Amino acid sequence: MLFQKKIVLGITGSIAAYKSVLLARLLARAGAEVKVVITASARDFVTPLSLSTLTKNQVFSSFTTGEDGEWVNHVELGMWADLILIAPASANTIGSCANGLCHNLLQAVYLSARCPVFFAPAMDLDMWKHIAVQANIGKLRSYGNYIIDPGTGELASGLVGEGRMAEPETILEIIEDFFSMGRQMNGRRVLVTAGPTREAIDPVRFISNYSSGKMGFSIAEELANRGATVSLISGPVDIRPTHPGISWIKVNSAEEMLKAAEQEFQKSDAAILCAAVADFQPTKYEEQKIKKEGEQPHTIELKKTPDILAKLGQIKSESQILAGFALETNSGRDNAMKKLKNKNLDFIVLNQLSETNQIFGSDQNQIEILDSKGEWKTFAQNSKAMLAKDIADQLNSCFTNA
Ligand code: CTP
Repeated sequence: MLFQKKIVLGITGSIAAYKSVLLARLLARAGAEVKVVITASARDFVTPLSLSTLTKNQVFSSFTTGEDGEWVNHVELGMWADLILIAPASANTIGSCANGLCHNLLQAVYLSARCPVFFAPAMDLDMWKHIAVQANIGKLRSYGNYIIDPGTGELASGLVGEGRMAEPETILEIIEDFFSMGRQMNGRRVLVTAGPTREAIDPVRFISNYSSGKMGFSIAEELANRGATVSLISGPVDIRPTHPGISWIKVNSAEEMLKAAEQEFQKSDAAILCAAVADFQPTKYEEQKIKKEGEQPHTIELKKTPDILAKLGQIKSESQILAGFALETNSGRDNAMKKLKNKNLDFIVLNQLSETNQIFGSDQNQIEILDSKGEWKTFAQNSKAMLAKDIADQLNSCFTNA
């Protein structure tokens, strides 16, 4: 049921818009409060009057409304929604949203939204298959949006193939499943670490690595979407969490990350440590900037940083779940297996760095998961946002089997 869920239904120019009239009715009947934002070209297919009658709400189509040209606050609409559903989503709207363009009210609402967004594409089969459309779909997925794949059948052009908007009943089912998933981890507290750490050499220099934090942040967002309360501890990154269920703790060094992680872990049901912690730190921090005087090579003595994951593995209680990552360039499975055992983990996510899997900074990744029973699961190359769902599923199965 969608009782009291606030849904913005975006309708764009496609013959499939007629199905969205039924979709609006189904959503409203399931208990949702529906506000429709319709584009100018969608008005050629359906009328605002039928949509406002079915949803019992005003239908929005431009930045101003009424005789006096009252401004429609797209930010407010975006903030109001628990979920945005764009159905049908035309190639034009998909392209604009994927590339941050803002030609109309719906696209402004999309760009202002902080809630999950679903796209139900509808177009002719050659358009749907086009490499540019598929690239835009890939972009939307990589930002964490959801795509409701089109079905196969007869298209308005008379061609038969993939491109038909999913049926309204199917879309309703997907949205209902999504909201019930939102309760999956209600009441759970999960700690996630992400990004690199910086180990200071002197006031202007540090040792670090290329980690962007994207994988850990995607995991934190996914867990929060499922209802968990997430503590996200990260080193310096260029991204920020968006979900209100995430508390963000910013640190610099491995020592700071350890301190914060030990504190947060005490209150957590589970932890997924994703951070690319620098493995070494200088034995001595130079208070003044090191000068490059003389011709002698300069040596900086290094010592190991604390292994945060191993430390949590030592203090973990029977009921807590602990997961880590293994970043490997060779003998991946063997090394991951050793880390799982030595660090006392419930599961480990293996990242193999290779020419085809350049993980750092990329939106894509390829992973395998090993559980404590020794079973491997392999996942196809995918966006980090989608892989975060597989990792959250794995954590959920640990919760339900505990
Ligand atoms: N990790 C950690 N603290 C460290 C090093 C790693 O918490 N000082 C965690 C990472 O967050 C990751 C896991 O340990 O979840 C494995 O990290 P990885 O870099 O693959 O391996 P290491 O244990 O550092 O071993 P090695 O560098 O020898 O492969």
